[in-house]
Amino acid sequence: MSFDHRKYSPFVTVDKPDRKWPSRRIEQAPLWAAVDLRDGNQALIKPMSVAQKKRFFKLLVEVGFKEIEVGFPSGSQIDFDFCRALIEEDLVPDDVHIQVLTQSRHELIERTFEAVRGARNAIVHIYNATSPTFRDQVFNVDKEGCKAIAVQAATWVRDMAAQQPETHWSFEYSPETFSATETDFAVEVIDAVNEVWRPDQGQRVIINLPATVEVSTPNVFADQVEIVHENIRYREHVLISVHTHNDRGCGVAAAELSMMAGADRVEGTLLGNGERTGNMDLVTCGMNLYAQGIDPLIDFSRMKEIVQVVEEITDIPTHPRHPYAGDLVFTAFSGSHQDAIRKCLGLYKPGDIWRVAYLPIDPADLNRRYEEVVRINSQSGKGGVTHVLERDYGISLPRWLQQEMAKLVQTDAEEDGGEIDSRRVHQRFNSDYLEVPNGWTLRSYDLHRGEEGVQAQISIGDQRSPVTVLSGRGEGAVGALVESLNRRHGWQLQVEAFDEYSLGDNTEANAMACVRVQVGGHTQSAVALAADTTAAALQAILSAAGRMAEAQARKSA
Ligand code: KIV
Ligand code: ZN
Repeated sequence: MSFDHRKYSPFVTVDKPDRKWPSRRIEQAPLWAAVDLRDGNQALIKPMSVAQKKRFFKLLVEVGFKEIEVGFPSGSQIDFDFCRALIEEDLVPDDVHIQVLTQSRHELIERTFEAVRGARNAIVHIYNATSPTFRDQVFNVDKEGCKAIAVQAATWVRDMAAQQPETHWSFEYSPETFSATETDFAVEVIDAVNEVWRPDQGQRVIINLPATVEVSTPNVFADQVEIVHENIRYREHVLISVHTHNDRGCGVAAAELSMMAGADRVEGTLLGNGERTGNMDLVTCGMNLYAQGIDPLIDFSRMKEIVQVVEEITDIPTHPRHPYAGDLVFTAFSGSHQDAIRKCLGLYKPGDIWRVAYLPIDPADLNRRYEEVVRINSQSGKGGVTHVLERDYGISLPRWLQQEMAKLVQTDAEEDGGEIDSRRVHQRFNSDYLEVPNGWTLRSYDLHRGEEGVQAQISIGDQRSPVTVLSGRGEGAVGALVESLNRRHGWQLQVEAFDEYSLGDNTEANAMACVRVQVGGHTQSAVALAADTTAAALQAILSAAGRMAEAQARKSA
């Protein structure tokens, strides 16, 4: 059998009983670094062209990124040309740092400096893998040899930067595979690199801690970051950055716990494109801050554009359930969710703290429409039907009618197996409740109130049928109509439910009435809109009675 878990060993945990990060909170956005144009690009089936990189870079700048890894210029001519274009065409704003990655080899570092010659602000990023697997099996070096590679590269970087004083340089070092490296050894290598760079003497230094492959739970990674944070020399002069991948699906969680553990800076890609399962997703991480009332310092209100540009350039569609960005993430199909959302949205006023059930953030903040929030399928209940009728047609129904209509719509959805749009819900409402059966339109009414109640003369009919005059007596207009109908049809019609509303002045009809009547154990509901509440009530009774008469006629035919 090849599917055998015994092939694998448990991840190594870190012994740090005095860990402090679990009781910390994230209170501000980290310094973000977007690595879409390098790490993201390296993972694409079709890597980006210079034109595509320009477009992506422009978006990153516009939404607010200040540190952008633009490529691996010593490894790719396109990346080299892109660096040159950025500098020669003056495409980099003054406050933006471009970052370039290089392996720790002399000729590659040299070529990298060539690529960014003339840049205003540049970050040269060197790395070498430090974990036992790489030391033993890939590079065949011991710990000293591994550290020496880093120190040598740091020295070349320092010296080459000194040759290009027109640029404001930042130096970045990544102990690649940090999360799989003995943390005390990682600290040793970082210290050795910093002895060359001397951040305490003014050199801007970024120490980037990658979970090159995510190998453990995020708490273990946070412990590792906290150990570095507490133990490296020159800590107060160094930016600690994290660069997590998503192999176990926890790239964002690992970055967040790392911020609690002392990380100042976070590298990632928009929507998480990157090697294997991807890089840490900047959209999710940033929006997680936003949803807690922290300014992410990135303009995610341009989410639609972000998704569009990323999809177009990476040729990777966004999952419809992708946090904050997917097509369906603000949609509720479930009836109880719809009910709760509708109630909370009804109470929410602009300026309030957002407290809406099932919606972690206001969809409008990402330029998403409330129309998307409630959609109807066979899982939806009365809340959804009510919500779309109110939202799209301004029709509010009493509870008993909401329940009745939801059953009808649910049957439609079950038969169809898919979604029922709001137009179809409205059509159902019209055909099953609002349409007046032939011959049952209220033409006029005349009411006389006397000692014995109301005497009513009610004319009904329409273009296709002669006018019929119904006369009856009752406690009110509705009672008088019911009495006359019962006499005429030999019924014992009873009104089981009755609700009437006056509508706003802006509507053509000023009143709406909803009724459910019962005759011989059969029920029939109807809704009517009319110029006044009496006319609406009479028409609703007439429509229900007309449907009842039609049903009886069909039965006896
Ligand atoms: O994932 C990784 O380790 C990297 C480094 C080169 C920073 O991308
Ligand atoms: Zn990476």
